[in-house]
Amino acid sequence: MMRNYHIQNLQDYFKEYKKSIKNPKKFWDKIADENFVWYQRWSKVVDYNMEEANIKWFKNAKLNITKNSLDRHLSVRGDKTAIIWEPNDPKEEAQHISFNELYERVNKTANVLREMGVEKGDRVCIYLPMIPELAVTMLACAKLGAVHSVIFAGFSAAAVASRVNDCGAKMVITSDGSYRGNKVLDLKSIVDEALEKCETVEHVLVVKRTNNDVKMKEGRDYWMSEYYDKASTDFVTVIMDAEDPLFILYTSGSTGKPKGMLHTCAGYMVYTAYTFKNVFNYKENDIYWCTADIGWITGHSYILYGPLLNGATTVIFEGVPTYPDAGRFWEVIEKHKVTQFYTAPTAIRSLAKESVEWVQKHNLESLKVIGSVGEPINDEAWHWYNDNVGNKKCPIVDTWWQTETGGILISPIPFVTPTKPTYATLPLPGVQPVLMDDKRNEISGNQVTGNLCIRFPWPGIARTIWGDHQRYKETYFSAFPGKYFTGDGALRDEVGYYRITGRVDDVIIVSGHNLGTAPIEDSINEHPAVAESAIVGYPHDVKGNALYGFVILKESGEERNRENLAKEINQLISEQIGPIAKLDKIQFVSGLPKTRSGKIMRRILRKIAEGDFTNFGDTSTLLNPEVVDEIKNERI
Ligand code: PRX
Repeated sequence: MMRNYHIQNLQDYFKEYKKSIKNPKKFWDKIADENFVWYQRWSKVVDYNMEEANIKWFKNAKLNITKNSLDRHLSVRGDKTAIIWEPNDPKEEAQHISFNELYERVNKTANVLREMGVEKGDRVCIYLPMIPELAVTMLACAKLGAVHSVIFAGFSAAAVASRVNDCGAKMVITSDGSYRGNKVLDLKSIVDEALEKCETVEHVLVVKRTNNDVKMKEGRDYWMSEYYDKASTDFVTVIMDAEDPLFILYTSGSTGKPKGMLHTCAGYMVYTAYTFKNVFNYKENDIYWCTADIGWITGHSYILYGPLLNGATTVIFEGVPTYPDAGRFWEVIEKHKVTQFYTAPTAIRSLAKESVEWVQKHNLESLKVIGSVGEPINDEAWHWYNDNVGNKKCPIVDTWWQTETGGILISPIPFVTPTKPTYATLPLPGVQPVLMDDKRNEISGNQVTGNLCIRFPWPGIARTIWGDHQRYKETYFSAFPGKYFTGDGALRDEVGYYRITGRVDDVIIVSGHNLGTAPIEDSINEHPAVAESAIVGYPHDVKGNALYGFVILKESGEERNRENLAKEINQLISEQIGPIAKLDKIQFVSGLPKTRSGKIMRRILRKIAEGDFTNFGDTSTLLNPEVVDEIKNERI
């Protein structure tokens, strides 16, 4: 487990922060040195060129993250529970997996992967529900040096195919099905459909979960259990270089192609371990629960790696917040005596809509710290969470970060940083946020808003976009040369606290999921009746944002029933991306407001979707101003 760096009060924090900024190399050198096992030390702490987007941490060090997440705990806490697995159905028994057992399971699985031909550097896509095998297969990949790329098991076949193809995966690991609330999803047939369009995959390993009847393709598909049961419990850990790839995780971008963010071994390990310990005030006997899906970065960093690196007990929950009833989260907290609870504003808002008795029925006394992640938490949700879940005594850590950042960058340190509703508050040590105006000038002082950038690299930053470094550089390092641009806007208040105001690019966050407008528009435009479309977000009281689509039909589509067309469009989006990207409102329009250079003026569409017709700003460059009135008048 990470050492305690004694941030006991705000003064300590400021001291530690100053130290980390004055000499980041010394700061991270000490943390890396004192808390991990290395096969070989680094020759240089950090090497970076922010203009070229080249960043390396702990150069030439040799390590394996699983040695640090598992092996080194065995002698001190081998029998301690590493994973508590809470199944979808509360009547099914929870599993308690000790570090010893997890170590063995990982070794056996690593042997299975190797038997199937997976070697260091190969990519393995994992499309599994929230079952222990998801954690085990990720760790098995890491142990043998394969690069895992987890695909959230709510994505469609088309989305799976594009990810598998983009990273050239050699293997896909999936299951015969998944339970989500009262639904059973057939994951295997989604993989089958996806793989019709993929050529690199040699084998598919299938984990049994639902006992669904699935088709197995001869020579390609194998049951995990048949090999696992016979596999040896010994496996020699593969030695990795600090900058060898650890995993790829896809996130939406401004084009239809998802961005495969690449995280590497050493920096990611050091950063997730350090931030987990400090942001959650982790102590040895705590029971930590993050409700995210492992298919997102939150799950990678703060269900799996961060906790296990600290020797923590981490809860993996298969189900959903409302099954069998709206008290499930609170029941699980009581049942396992959870001390840290980490969830998303969208979950908080949806549960706040239910009777507060669901919460009050359960004893939540074990809780010490509660957290929020993924989107801005609004004032009302913050207070509901604070009053009813934290009982006004658990600090809320409103953690701001991204798939690209690997770990939390801005967050209160519990019991140290006074919290303020809707504010992520202060940067963690080692993190240097700056606000920039649109003319690329740094905005100094407090009580200001601007584009949120980070001035200096931190160990957890993604190193590139898989196969497209140019895109990485352009997306994150070119808008404000020499700085990492987050794509978020932020406000800095009178004491220097940060409040994230939302995306300033064309990504919309719906229920905590990042959705690029371009991929959704691409799917809509594939409908034979559609000529063109534009998507914007508008405020929604549970999802944070919902999607509003403006669609121009082709002449052939004009005759069609609009309700049916809207259904078909949403069906298409579900198939191409997944149900999370479905539109809440679809308005058929005769044109879209465009500038003379042909760019859609989304600002106007956003205002209309929000129902705010007051100030459209400068519309003098519009080619077709008349269309604005039409869209406005026919707003849904
Ligand atoms: O807009 C910010 C929002 O989520 C984006 C990153 O999304 P993703 O890569 O999916 O990672 C989510 C989990 C780390 C950010 O650019 N976001 C994340 N956390 C917060 C947030 N917005 C406001 N407050 C937060 N605490």
